[in-house]
Amino acid sequence: MSNYHIKHLEEYYQVYRKSVRNPEAFWEEIAEEHFVWRKRWDNVLSWDFKKPEIKWFEGAKLNITENCLDRHLPTRGDKTAIIFEPNNPDEEAQHITYRQLHERVCRMANVLLDHGVKKGDRVCIYLPMIPELSVALLACARIGAIHSVVFAGFSSHALGTRINDSDCKVVLTSDGSFRGNKSIDLKGIVDKALEGCPGVANVLVVKRTGSDIHMEPVRDKWLQPLLDEAYADCVAEVMDAEDPLFILYTSGSTGTPKGMVHTTAGYMVYTAYTFKNVFQYKENDVYWCTADIGWITGHSYIVYGPLANGATTLMFEGVPSYPDFGRFWEVVQKHKVNQFYTAPTAIRALAKENLEYVEKYDLSSLRVLGSVGEPINEEAWHWYNNNVGKKNSPLVDTWWQTETGGIMIAPIPYVTPTTPTYATLPFIGIQPALMDENAKEIKGNQVEGRLCIKFPWPSIARTIWGNHDRYRDTYFSAYEDMYFTGDGALRDAVGYYRITGRVDDVIIVSGHNLGTAPIEDAINEHPAVAESAIVGFPHDVKGNALYGYVILKETGESRDRDNLRKEINQQITEHVGPIAKLEKIQFVSGLPKTRSGKIMRRILRKIASNDTSNLGDTSTLLNPEIVQEIMDNSL
Ligand code: WT7
Repeated sequence: MSNYHIKHLEEYYQVYRKSVRNPEAFWEEIAEEHFVWRKRWDNVLSWDFKKPEIKWFEGAKLNITENCLDRHLPTRGDKTAIIFEPNNPDEEAQHITYRQLHERVCRMANVLLDHGVKKGDRVCIYLPMIPELSVALLACARIGAIHSVVFAGFSSHALGTRINDSDCKVVLTSDGSFRGNKSIDLKGIVDKALEGCPGVANVLVVKRTGSDIHMEPVRDKWLQPLLDEAYADCVAEVMDAEDPLFILYTSGSTGTPKGMVHTTAGYMVYTAYTFKNVFQYKENDVYWCTADIGWITGHSYIVYGPLANGATTLMFEGVPSYPDFGRFWEVVQKHKVNQFYTAPTAIRALAKENLEYVEKYDLSSLRVLGSVGEPINEEAWHWYNNNVGKKNSPLVDTWWQTETGGIMIAPIPYVTPTTPTYATLPFIGIQPALMDENAKEIKGNQVEGRLCIKFPWPSIARTIWGNHDRYRDTYFSAYEDMYFTGDGALRDAVGYYRITGRVDDVIIVSGHNLGTAPIEDAINEHPAVAESAIVGFPHDVKGNALYGYVILKETGESRDRDNLRKEINQQITEHVGPIAKLEKIQFVSGLPKTRSGKIMRRILRKIASNDTSNLGDTSTLLNPEIVQEIMDNSL
């Protein structure tokens, strides 16, 4: 019997050792006993971090939807696969069984086939958190199309860039979306994006808000009538283990987003195995992850991981503050949620409100609490642990990334003793390393450095769509034969890891990964702006907020500053999305630069954080005098 379900600490250490000493044998056993394959692999793993090239289960044939749906039908056909909790609490929740989900996926897969979508084609999905979103992912996977989900909070510009980067030929969207008391015109955003996307042949539209929208003749079609007519079964395409399953974009150090490519078999095995253990999921549990499926958290831990385990996974369309700040807890009580997985920013926002919003509800069903997206600060950790978990549900702080596909460092609840703000121990099969400035590994405990991973795990992203060089340069060039995460971390006396935050130009705002470059590009497009730099500074709800330093052109100097601020944020909303808006904008006459012309963000970061006691050596700057000016006018 393989070690699919870890139940105590001794077992964790034992299985961990096994997974590191002989990774191939370990993962082979897991893959063999817990998944269905059309054909077995010829080779468990081949890898080379120099090229880089990573292949897991090479030669195997499978379809991930047979693992997430078909194989459950005999034993779990009538079990609820998805609970859909709508934005409006007065609208009835939906319970979709595995049999119903299978049928809905097959119908949508057939509709895609009817629209010429073939294996390997890219389909863009721009949908709110409604069941059709999960169905769409699985329908693509059913026929071997590669899905590219774009979070439905991104702007038309961001959407268009992503559609073109991966040449999507079909877009799935809805008329609109509900978020709290707002209704958002998604179709209008898609229409605008598509003005610059000649490659899109069809737009299939889900009716959700019933709002009046434009339907472009020939190109646009309502989805429901097509689903109603479609055949309710669809033969699964047989995929290679290393065939791409999806592309998901994440920000980087240049303006172009990185389309991370995840492949089929390794991703399936790792997300399923981590889901089972990190949430200690047991049959008949109700599991809820509050993330949006537009992020990797939703892909791996709302859709694929839970469904591969035959779990009941809850999809929530709304927001934590609507109709009031008790909404999360009301949903936990209503559906008797056992595992609850959310982000520190949500916890911090709710912790600011009256405790009655939590105390009003029966949360006794909860057994495991999860956190993801950014470091969870001590205060938020205790609030979550005390008031939601009643000190009775282990809180698992899970560290991972879009690129890692699955959870990398996290406690196993009821197994690993937790410590506030620590992601604790590497998950089975994960070999972390901390590196110093000279690219040497720092061994031993009570040390701090840059977090790398030494050995491939099954769900590591295999490339960046259309740009393998960028994949190598970003992740495999800083340290030889290592995957570099971009994060800093410390390892304490007992070997627990604590993630200290990004060490590159990525800023995490409310758990959203924002690169500085695309935002600066958006600002610089404003006609009055000459140059800009943005940095993060601590914010008590968002974790970090954005502080922009902007140099105006001469033409901008006479303009009203508050209007300019509004216009700049409008520009960002249109180019990136409202999540990237600047909290503060300071107009400056120059930016501190090194002699090679690079902006010294370190200094700007300190000034923005009001931490100017130790700015370090500024004498080597090209323009040291600017530092004082910026400090004097700091907001
Ligand atoms: C970055 C990845 C993983 C899904 C959501 C974000 C930060 C993520 C934690 C955590 C400290 C965390 C890191 C990471 N991060 N989880 N538990 N503790 N930091 O995915 O958008 O790819 O962002 O989020 O900085 O590198 P992502």
